[in-house]
Amino acid sequence: MRIYKAQILFTKERTRFEVMPDGYIAVENGTIIGVYEQLPASLAGQPVTDFGDKLLIPAMNDIHVHAPQYRNLGIAMDLELLPWLDNYTFPEESKYSDTEYAERMYRRFVRDLWRFGTMRTVAFATVHRDSTRLLMNLFLEAGMGARVGKVDMNRNCPEALCQSVEDAVRDNEALIAEYAKPDALVSPIITPRFVPSCTPEMLQACGELARKYNLPVQSHLSENRNEIAWVQDLEPESRYYGDAYRRYGLFGDTPTIMAHCVWTDGDELALMRDKQVMVAHCPTSNLNLASGMAPIRKFLNEGVPVGLGSDISGGHDLSIFKMIVYAIQISKMRYCQDKSLPFLTLPEAFWIATKSAGRFFGQVGSFEPGYEFDALVIDDSELNHDNYSLLHRLERFIYLGDDRQIVRRFCRGQEISEPKI
Ligand code: GUN
Ligand code: FE
Repeated sequence: MRIYKAQILFTKERTRFEVMPDGYIAVENGTIIGVYEQLPASLAGQPVTDFGDKLLIPAMNDIHVHAPQYRNLGIAMDLELLPWLDNYTFPEESKYSDTEYAERMYRRFVRDLWRFGTMRTVAFATVHRDSTRLLMNLFLEAGMGARVGKVDMNRNCPEALCQSVEDAVRDNEALIAEYAKPDALVSPIITPRFVPSCTPEMLQACGELARKYNLPVQSHLSENRNEIAWVQDLEPESRYYGDAYRRYGLFGDTPTIMAHCVWTDGDELALMRDKQVMVAHCPTSNLNLASGMAPIRKFLNEGVPVGLGSDISGGHDLSIFKMIVYAIQISKMRYCQDKSLPFLTLPEAFWIATKSAGRFFGQVGSFEPGYEFDALVIDDSELNHDNYSLLHRLERFIYLGDDRQIVRRFCRGQEISEPKI
C-alpha cells in the first residue's frame, strides 16, 4: 500500500472540481482504495509520501493521435484535410515500412507524451505490422497505457500504404495474438482509417475482427465537408456518414472512438448516443485543417461520450492541457455564432480530458475508490507568486504552464520515469 499526501484536485462530476487541501490518496496494487481529507485511524502509522504544497491531479488521456505523423508536427498547415492527406501525410506514413526510421520517430513521440503528462493514449500507427509492434513495445517499455491501431486502408492511397484485405487481417491477427490480453496495459484497437480509405470488403473485415476478438474500434467521422460528400458517393446506401460504419459493425457494437464529428448532428448524433460511441474532440486539428467547430456542448447535452485528442499532426500540440484550453476557446467562438450552446467551463473541459476519456481504458481519470492511480504531481511554485487559491493555481498551470511543472508521473500506480529516446 502507498499513501500520497498533496494538494488534490480532480473532477468526479462534470461541472465542478473536488478540492482537497492536504488530502490523502491510498493506493494498493495500482488501484485507489480511498481518498481522504484526513487520514483515517485505520491507516495511521502507514508510511506517507508527502508532496507538500504541490498539486496532485489525474494524468491526461489522449484518445486520438497519429504517432507516425510526429515528424510533421508544426508544418504543412496550408491545406484542408483531403489534399493534406495526399500531399503531406501519406508520404510521411509510407516511410514506416522502415523500422529503423519508425523507432527513431516513435521513441521521441512516446517520450514527449510522457513529458506532457499523457499516461494513456489511443493511437493510430500505420499499415505496417512491424513498426506497429515496435510502437506497442515502446509503450510497454515506458509503462504507459495505450490502445494502438495498425491502420487498415486499401483504396485512394499510395501503393506503399495499400494493403490487401487478406494481408490486413493476417497482420491484425498476429498483433491480436501477441497483445490482446485481459487488462493488458497496451493492446490493439481495430483501425479502419476512414471510409474513403477502405473498400466495403475492408470495412467488413474490420467489423468481423472487432466482433470476433471483442476489440474496440477507432476511426474518423464527419471531419470535413468535402470528406462527407465523398463518403456519400462511395457508400450511396448509407443514410449518413456514421451509418456507413454501422452497416459494417464498426459503430458502437464494441467500444468505439470516432475522431472529430465536427459536422455530426441529427440521426448520426442520436446513433452515437444510443451506441455510446465516443467523440474524440481535436480542437487544434480542427483549427489547422480549417475543419470547423465541433458541437461539444450538444454532445454533452445529449449524453454522447467525449474525450480530447491532439490528432498530431493535424493538431500541432501534444499537450492535452493545451487541448483543454483550445476546447474551451473554440466553444466560445461557436457560442458567438449560436448562443443556444453555452461555452465549456474549465471543470467541464478537465472532466472531458480525464474522467470522461478515461472510461475508454476502464476505471481511469478520477481519484475515486476503484480507479487506477494515474496521476501527475505539479510543482507550480514559479506560477504561484502571490498565494493563489488551489483552483486558480490549477487554472494558471493549465493556461500558462508546460512540461516543466510536471515533476512526477504515475500510471496504474507505477511511477513512470523518462523514456529513453
Ligand atoms: N482522416 C483520415 N486520416 C486522417 C488523418 O490522418 N488525420 C486527420 N485529421 N483526419 C484523417
Ligand atoms: Fe486523426
